[in-house]
Amino acid sequence: MFAVFAESFSSDDPLSGLVLGEQPEPEVPDGWTTVTVKAASLNHHDLWSLRGVGLKEEALPMILGCDAAGHDEDGNEVVVHAVVSSPDWRGDETFDPRRSLLSERHPGTFAERVAVPRSNIVPKPASLSFEEAACLPTAWLTAYRMLFTQGGLKAGDTVLVQGAGGGVATALIALGRAGGLRVLATSRDEAKRAKALELGAHEVYESGERLPAKVDAVMETVGRATWAHSIRSLRPGGKLVISGTTSGPKLDDAMLSHIFFLQLSVIGSTMGTRDELASLVTMLDATGVRPLLDRTLPMDQARDGFAALAEGDVFGKIVFTR
Ligand SMILES: NC(=O)c1ccc[n+]([C@@H]2O[C@H](COP(=O)([O-])OP(=O)(O)OC[C@H]3O[C@@H](n4cnc5c(N)ncnc54)[C@H](OP(=O)(O)O)[C@@H]3O)[C@@H](O)[C@H]2O)c1
Repeated sequence: MFAVFAESFSSDDPLSGLVLGEQPEPEVPDGWTTVTVKAASLNHHDLWSLRGVGLKEEALPMILGCDAAGHDEDGNEVVVHAVVSSPDWRGDETFDPRRSLLSERHPGTFAERVAVPRSNIVPKPASLSFEEAACLPTAWLTAYRMLFTQGGLKAGDTVLVQGAGGGVATALIALGRAGGLRVLATSRDEAKRAKALELGAHEVYESGERLPAKVDAVMETVGRATWAHSIRSLRPGGKLVISGTTSGPKLDDAMLSHIFFLQLSVIGSTMGTRDELASLVTMLDATGVRPLLDRTLPMDQARDGFAALAEGDVFGKIVFTR
């Protein structure tokens, strides 16, 4: 079958190991099923895989892609949950130390067909297109868990989203607004601040700018560059939820005194569960909120999408269709 896969790694030139060509049909173990892919979205994770991060040499060639929407074996329209837990794991699969994402241990979604555990299938409502549904399982699910599970936010709360241009950040803004939150967002870039307002942010600020009032929670994916501002922006008892460190994970000053004196909570968040993905899908169906698509390309032009993401020339999700 046709697939987009990693054949080798390069940290300097990740696209050099990217191949578009033929790969064997996926194996389907007991309890698994096959989804015929209609749309699959690109993540930074796919570029990291081409750099050899999170993927072992002996796993090559590996079909890339974490996110997909398509048809199950009975022809039903479905969304694929990307987190594969070990067969004996029970409960929240994001806590399984042996979990993996599709394309790490098992072939990914940039292909005609992908094999997944039956329990990883979520029904797709007709109101969502395949392209929109394919954006949800990684960036949007991460944002949903940050806001509503780890952050415990509810209608009327105020949230600050750092780095408005990112894939997770744009999902945080749109979902926060739809969930009845007051949404503040920062960006270094004026054009991105304007787009954040269009997406649903109530107020936008330059990165590091002092806010007029403290917030209930901050959503962090930037890390080093925005950490101090995040801590300073929280009200006493506020929560900082972190799922990424785009600008780097090391801090000169973790602001520990602020954390204990103001009784702040710092909470990590990673991906989400199958049930959270089902709730996210229902939330989009109910509210009309939709992922922002940067561009849609036929899967046989996937190289152009990878190049755009590598150059940072993106606002919203890149989707490959079949
Ligand atoms: N834990 C999980 O499950 C999970 C899932 C998905 C992603 N992630 C992680 O989350 C992070 C965000 O990924 P993403 O794809 O959403 O976004 P991204 O494209 O990596 O960038 C996020 C934003 O960071 C801001 N930024 C970058 N460098 C900065 C700097 N020096 N100073 C200030 N702001 C800076 C930029 O905002 P502006 O240009 O608007 O200022 C950028 O739009 C990544 O580290 C990714 O690995 C984690």
